[in-house]
Amino acid sequence: ISLLAYNTFRFHYQAEYFALAETLESLKELLAWANHQQLEVTIIGGGSNLLISADIRGLVIINQLSGIKSRELGNNRVSLTVAAGENWHHVVEHAVNQGWFGIENLALIPGTTGAAPVQNIGAYGVEVKDAIARVQVIDRISGDVYWVLAVDCGFAYRDSHFKGKWKDKYCITSVEFSLKKRSDFVLSYGGLANQITGDLSLLNVFRAVCKIRSEKLPDPNELANSGSFFKNPIVDPAKHDELKAAFPNLVSFPFGDDYKLAAGWLIDQAGWKGKKYQGVGVYEKQALVLVNYSEESAQALLALEAKIKASVFERYGVELEREPVQLPLLTTNPIDHGES
Ligand code: EPU
Repeated sequence: ISLLAYNTFRFHYQAEYFALAETLESLKELLAWANHQQLEVTIIGGGSNLLISADIRGLVIINQLSGIKSRELGNNRVSLTVAAGENWHHVVEHAVNQGWFGIENLALIPGTTGAAPVQNIGAYGVEVKDAIARVQVIDRISGDVYWVLAVDCGFAYRDSHFKGKWKDKYCITSVEFSLKKRSDFVLSYGGLANQITGDLSLLNVFRAVCKIRSEKLPDPNELANSGSFFKNPIVDPAKHDELKAAFPNLVSFPFGDDYKLAAGWLIDQAGWKGKKYQGVGVYEKQALVLVNYSEESAQALLALEAKIKASVFERYGVELEREPVQLPLLTTNPIDHGES
């Protein structure tokens, strides 16, 4: 089965076995079947933060679990429980329509709700961890279903245990959010406050975020991409001072005792913005986003990534780290297409 429709980079790789899971029961059955057949399992949500770079052996499951429930918590809080396969932006819209605060800055991020905790999606000064109460998982081997509290998920900047030590252990089935019924806006990040038209309301903040994103970021339905391709690197104050002296216009933000550098700025200033390489390139309006114009394989993209990393390292002495998750997780042999 081709995975073309299940990765927003639109690379043409195959899954050896493939299934859609629409209910928790069917997900459990699929996992049990794969265990019995001794097949590796790979779970995909919206495919919008993935770099598939080879065919995937074993069973690929597309998580399409659906359902949204809410419950009043008192104290001006509401609990929103969302099945993993629900589209993230629809959840944000739903919360905004209900007048619930907390995730409006995360509007228009592509992908599913179950994928949101994996890389701890973030935008405009908010990270999804700030709104998560707990995450429901299924143990891929035992089939047991648990709730893991947000504090135990190892959330950090674009990172969590789901991307690290738990990457083969659990599959996320549902996420419970704790949202506020009173306004508590985060408007400090890069020009968001200036983009609001009309009065300061939940709907107008949501609209401003949608406007900024659609101006800067390519819509994956129109131009294949997976959002930011690199994380914003974190450097210590000594390194920051050194860079600031050499590059007075350096864009950086305090991050705890350290500094987060705008990787988009580093790449842009190194001359990469809008550059093309074979059928891929650096997006012309945001240098942190790599786009695929016409490639079927990930080769050109991996080569472009290596060139950008080398160039940034040479110019600034800063190592860029990739943001999307690479699949297959394990390096396996290519599939014999004749048989599958
Ligand atoms: N910049 C440039 N040239 C560029 C791009 C950026 O000079 O080509 C400079 C600008 O000065 C800008 C600064 O870099 O002020 C920061 O850029 P921007 O506000 O676009 O945000 P970012 O740091 O590039 C991060 C997230 C995005 C998120 C935005 C908004 C990461 C890896 N990326 O990007 O998340 O939407 O902030 O909060 O942290 C994603 O993770 O896929 C993603 C899109």
